[in-house]
Amino acid sequence: MQRCPEPELMNAPDQVIAYAEADFSSGDHSVIERLYELIDESPTTLSPGSLILDLGCGPGNISERLAARWPLSNVIGLDGAPSMINIATQRLNSLRPAFQNLNYKLVDLSHYSVDKMIQLKGASVIVSNSLLHHLHHPQKLWDCVKELAAPNAFVLHRDLRRPSHEREVDVLCDRYARQAPSVLQRDFRASLIAAFTPEEVRDQLDLAGLSQFRVEAIGDRYLEVCGQWCP
Ligand SMILES: C[S@@+](CC[C@H](N)C(=O)[O-])C[C@H]1O[C@@H](n2cnc3c(N)ncnc32)[C@H](O)[C@@H]1O
Repeated sequence: MQRCPEPELMNAPDQVIAYAEADFSSGDHSVIERLYELIDESPTTLSPGSLILDLGCGPGNISERLAARWPLSNVIGLDGAPSMINIATQRLNSLRPAFQNLNYKLVDLSHYSVDKMIQLKGASVIVSNSLLHHLHHPQKLWDCVKELAAPNAFVLHRDLRRPSHEREVDVLCDRYARQAPSVLQRDFRASLIAAFTPEEVRDQLDLAGLSQFRVEAIGDRYLEVCGQWCP
């Protein structure tokens, strides 16, 4: 099935509210556990004060978990959609004084200027969940990783993967989005069709000079890119 991109930024009010209210806790939890495993199986550790970036952080669901799990690290969630960053910031304000190690920043990764990125350089961990399929030029994500990662940084990107046939899209929508609000049903379908296959992501990584990262299909609808950045 051919890829059909969807809009990059999630900024429509109904879309942002539905997304922020949805329960993605089991997927969010599994991203954190996978990152923990990746760090745990490496001889490198995360030192206090290390920087963790959550790219395309949306309403902050994963950024909050990162900040709670690694309280001695500084977590920055980045998103290019002002509405998403507003919701993430409101949530954070309601959680203060906890989460002193978490902040958000409005950055469109497809059109960033190096000036805006200076404080983000040297990250020890770079994570994204459900970002890659939004990008019209996916190499941007891999350029960002190379620009921002410190040597030996842990890198974990989880996303949907594109099914081979439209009938598989129907099956997945029926399996996972039947009870969801209509805006989320629509977005889930569009995201599956906008997603990349593991083979396409492999090619993107090879082109970016990031062949060291592993790409794996996970379960019936995800793919994962992970590894440690060695320049
Ligand atoms: C499907 S949401 C995922 C949110 C969050 N990571 C999660 O797992 O719940 C994708 C997010 O990526 C953001 N995004 C898409 N393209 C982006 C870009 N070029 N720069 C920054 N953020 C982007 C969207 O605005 C949206 O908030």
